[in-house]
Amino acid sequence: MDLENFRRHAHEMVDWMVDYFKNIENFPVKSQAKPGDIKRQLPLSPPEQGEPFETIMKDFNEIIMPGITHWQHPSFFAYFNANNSYPSVLGEMLTAALGAQCMSWQTSPAAAELEERVMQWTGQLIGLPDDFTGVIQDTASTATLCSILTAREKFTDYEINRKGFSCDRKYTLYCSGEAHSSVEKAAKIAGFGSENLRKIEVDSQYAMDPRALEQAIREDIRQGNRPLAVIAAVGTTGSIAIDPLRRIGEICKKYNLWLHVDAAYAGTGLLLPENRRLIDGIELADTFVFNPHKWMFTNFDCSAYFVKDKEALIRTFEILPEYLKTKEGDRVNNYRDWGIQLGRRFRALKLWFVIRTFGVEGLRERVRNHIQWAKELAVAIEAAPDFELLAPLHLGTVCFRYKPVHISDPEVLNKLNMELLETLNAAGKVYLTHTKLRGAATLRLVVGQTYQEKRHIEKGWELIQQTARENRDGACLAY
Ligand SMILES: Cc1ncc(COP(=O)(O)O)c(C=O)c1O
Repeated sequence: MDLENFRRHAHEMVDWMVDYFKNIENFPVKSQAKPGDIKRQLPLSPPEQGEPFETIMKDFNEIIMPGITHWQHPSFFAYFNANNSYPSVLGEMLTAALGAQCMSWQTSPAAAELEERVMQWTGQLIGLPDDFTGVIQDTASTATLCSILTAREKFTDYEINRKGFSCDRKYTLYCSGEAHSSVEKAAKIAGFGSENLRKIEVDSQYAMDPRALEQAIREDIRQGNRPLAVIAAVGTTGSIAIDPLRRIGEICKKYNLWLHVDAAYAGTGLLLPENRRLIDGIELADTFVFNPHKWMFTNFDCSAYFVKDKEALIRTFEILPEYLKTKEGDRVNNYRDWGIQLGRRFRALKLWFVIRTFGVEGLRERVRNHIQWAKELAVAIEAAPDFELLAPLHLGTVCFRYKPVHISDPEVLNKLNMELLETLNAAGKVYLTHTKLRGAATLRLVVGQTYQEKRHIEKGWELIQQTARENRDGACLAY
């Protein structure tokens, strides 16, 4: 492909993108592909000769597109959103064109300095105290891993980095039983072992019980273990439970533990000053992460990680071989030392485009709408005789189930709800996912897609009710 052909195809590609967004509602939200459907159509070996771009695009449309789940569909209600937005896509296009590898200040000063500034903006946007410094990580999983690695090093005077673990010390970590699986993954990778991650009981609202936390810490101390860090969730994945940061933070201070806050999804809700109560006590935390790549209209990947002790982070990860030394030294931010990988994409660009295009008020307005629509849905669910809410509503995620009045057997209800989910998702008009809350199969409907309007939630809710009742009638003999 020469440069002029690149120009032509790039223009065609922009048209493709515009048509895609225009027609996105005509696609089934969740791909209807079966395992192997896509692979079967792909040759076993790569082509010897280059192929025309038209042929590749034809295969993209005919083979690849049917295997795509449309995360930007406004009736995507599953997991948490992984939103993009038009300015974010444009930012990503430039990032791809520049192809800069932004490991050091010198390898692209603008990338380093823009990241520094945009992370300052982002901290302000969500009301974080000024003494937090931000850096973009690929994912919240990586940020959580960075956090507990930094805790490990800071509390052992960087000894484990030098000497590795010595077997006679057992370090323990704490999170709630509802924390994201990335916490356990981080505990494994960081060498603590998943058995030394204590999963603390939750209260009736699925939030960590601070008394149970303190008891667990005391018990570990009694056994001669070294309690090291608590990972608190502001917005758990299952039910958006909010762990009580202030009480957890006070316990951390009392026993000298590190506190990491995982607000991967809920962090975007903090754009609204009225939601800042969710992080009451944040000044007691050491690190905090949220994902603009979830709800804040910024393409995956973009995780905003904030630390109080920047030096500890850098000291944990810094390695300076001769070939990476630059004359600017530590007068500038060399982000290769602020996390795990050396190479880094220019991620700040898309976030900058998003924040500037929407403006603070534009971001807030969208998020406020999402939360309002979720509230209205929760009210409708509460009013429906055959549905019930299963968790308090925080932000834009509604947890509920279908519960016809004459059915109370928990197993039957679980089966009915899982069947409802299957039927809904197979029809392709909406996509929802589930969790289990105290053993009850729970449908989660996440309001918050960039291109969503109120009508999408209303239509989705109608479809859910209608499908539930049809399923029940169709299966009336079984139930
Ligand atoms: C609370 C929470 N933490 C962490 C994660 C992991 O996010 P990431 O995919 O950015 O690693 C998720 C993902 O949904 C999450 O809900």
